[in-house]
This record gives sequence, C-alpha cells and structure tokens, in this order.
Amino acid sequence: MIPVAKPLIGEEEIEEVEKVLRSGFIAQGPRVAEFEEAFASYIGTEHAIATSSGTTALHISLLAMGIGKGDEVITTPFSFAATGNCALYVGARPIFVDIDRATFNLDPNQIEQAITKKTKAIVPVHLYGQSAKMDSIRKIAEENDLLIVEDAAQAHGAMFQDKMVGSLGDMACFSFYPTKNMTTSEGGMITTNNAELADNARVLRAHGERGRYQHSVLGYNFRMTDIAAAIGLVQLKKLDGFNQKRIENAEYFTEHLKGICGIEPPFVSPEVKHVFHQYTVRVEDGKRNDLMNYLNQEDIGTGIHYPIPIYRQEIYQKMGYNTTCPLTEKAASEVLSLPVHPSLSVEELEKIVITLEGASDKFF
Ligand SMILES: Cc1ncc(COP(=O)(O)O)c(C=O)c1O
Repeated sequence: MIPVAKPLIGEEEIEEVEKVLRSGFIAQGPRVAEFEEAFASYIGTEHAIATSSGTTALHISLLAMGIGKGDEVITTPFSFAATGNCALYVGARPIFVDIDRATFNLDPNQIEQAITKKTKAIVPVHLYGQSAKMDSIRKIAEENDLLIVEDAAQAHGAMFQDKMVGSLGDMACFSFYPTKNMTTSEGGMITTNNAELADNARVLRAHGERGRYQHSVLGYNFRMTDIAAAIGLVQLKKLDGFNQKRIENAEYFTEHLKGICGIEPPFVSPEVKHVFHQYTVRVEDGKRNDLMNYLNQEDIGTGIHYPIPIYRQEIYQKMGYNTTCPLTEKAASEVLSLPVHPSLSVEELEKIVITLEGASDKFF
C-alpha cells in the first residue's frame, strides 16, 4: 500500500531522543527552549512558544488575546475541526465564511459582511500548505480593528509573496502531528512578534504560573516535552528538503494530470510558495468515492480533507448552526488527496499516474 501520509524519522531523530532520555530532562527543558529559538528564527518572528499540539496552540492563542464569551471569530468551515473548536474552547462563537473555489482558502471578499460588533479576530487557515490571501485579510483586519491568528498547522515553510507563513498575523499556530510536513510526534508551536501575547501564551501553557506555585490566571498543562523537541530540532533542519520533494512530486502529478479528464489538479496562486501538505484534486460528477475506492483497491492510499464542513459536525448542529457555505459544500463532496509525501519513489509516482489514467478511462 502506498500510504497517503508517512512520517520520515531517521537515525538522527532516534539518536537525539536517546540523548534526551539519558539526560534526565524528559519534560519541558533545554531542548524545548532550543527548538523555540530555532523555529522563531526559521519563521522570522521574535517569539515562538512550543505546545503539546496544534490544537492547544490555537486554544491558548485566542486566550492570550483575551478572546472569550460573547466574542465572534471569523474562520473557514473547510478545515480540520480544531480550527472552529478553538473559538468554542474559549467561549467565543466561530462564524464560518465560505472559501475561494480555486484555493480552498477563506474568501476575503466574504469576510466583511460577516463582521459584527462582536467580531474580535479572523482565523485564516493555510489549507493543504497554500497560504490564504493574507494581504486582503490583513487589510480587512486593520480597517476593522481585528486580530489575526493564522492556522498554519499545514503550512510549515510556506510563503505569501516574500514572507513566511507564521509571520503574517498577530499570532500563528503550527501542528507537528506525524502526517504534517515536519513532526515531533504530537506537538505544536505559536509564533508571534508581539512580546505581550507571547508572554500571555507562555503563562497559559503552564498552569497560569508567573512564579513557582503562583497561579495568576487559569492556565493549562499544554507543554511540549524535550523528547518531542529533540525530534523537532532534527526535522526542522530537514524541512526545506522535505518541502522541495513535496513540490517536485506535486509538479509531476500536475504535469501528468493535464491530459486526464474528470480530475482537476490543484491551483497554485502565483502569490505563494505552496508546500503541498496535501495534493488535493477535485473529482467531478459525484465520482469521487468511486475513484477513491478504485485507488484503494490498487493499493494507493487517499484522504478526504474534509468530507464535512465544520458547521455540519454534530456538535455544531446541536448548538443550532444553520450556516450553509455552497462552495465549501461542493468542495467537501469533490476533494480527494493523493500521496505526495517526500518518501514516494519514482515507481510509486508513476504507478499513481498510470492508475489515475486507467480510472479516468473507466469513470469519466
Ligand atoms: C488546519 C488544522 N488546524 C489545526 C490542527 C490541529 O493540530 P493538532 O492535530 O496538532 O492538534 C490541524 C491538524 O490536524 C489542522 O490540520
């Protein structure tokens, strides 16, 4: 089976983890501090705060900004549930705005009409590794006095124009889950240039402590371990190489998919560096599930990112959400992610293309 995602862990990661295990510092310690410094320097922000996951990074970012009960947060419904849930965790209401058809990202043209007196922040997601249209989103945020938290969980190393994703808003959150472009097993990171927000996030990450056993605010245990940071330090050095391979794999698919009908390759905006966390095609005419089953029978793994808009998830329905975003609904029924990870061999790339050609003759 060619898996749709595969973490690439080498001997270096194993050696670094062993060193941590032998050091005695296995919770948050010097390796976490080192990883934060290296990550901040990679993204080009003044601060980076490591967390236990991308979800906890999002959660404490909103809290650090003082967002809570009665506030609204504008975001995309076409994402992993954590993007919407982080607003719920802090007692705020996520307001879902439809996506741009081409990029699958939050459509800036629809944000303004969703702004109310209660709106405090925008959470754009850089879906599949492609930056949201951050110039327009920043302009709207500035004009309406809103904060921006980038959900960069899928976009390590991605760029918008000449700037790194993760440095384009007030705060940004990354995930290091094993399927991501780099991993720490579980883990997350907040990046920001704002010293006060960074400080708030650090305090919230560790029980709200400003001094030993002095709990100034209601905080959490959302810390990263030195074991995870040791993996992250090695993976960060490999990230650009991993991303380059993903981009080459994506280019190979797009070149070969041109002649295949029924399957629409992903659009890459000329304004971005897309790092292809996912290579996601659209499959037309209700044939997505047939194509998926066919590929799976041929031992090619696939993913659907995401089959259900966040507002249609049971928890949101129970809260009374009656949002409908037509382009999100359509995308949810058409998208199919193919394997694009850096460890794909030439033979595997060829097999995927040949299988798609065969499927196209069969289904379209
Ligand atoms: C867009 C998006 N946001 C948030 C998250 C949450 O990250 P984690 O799984 O590390 O909690 C993910 C990861 O799955 C994601 O893809």
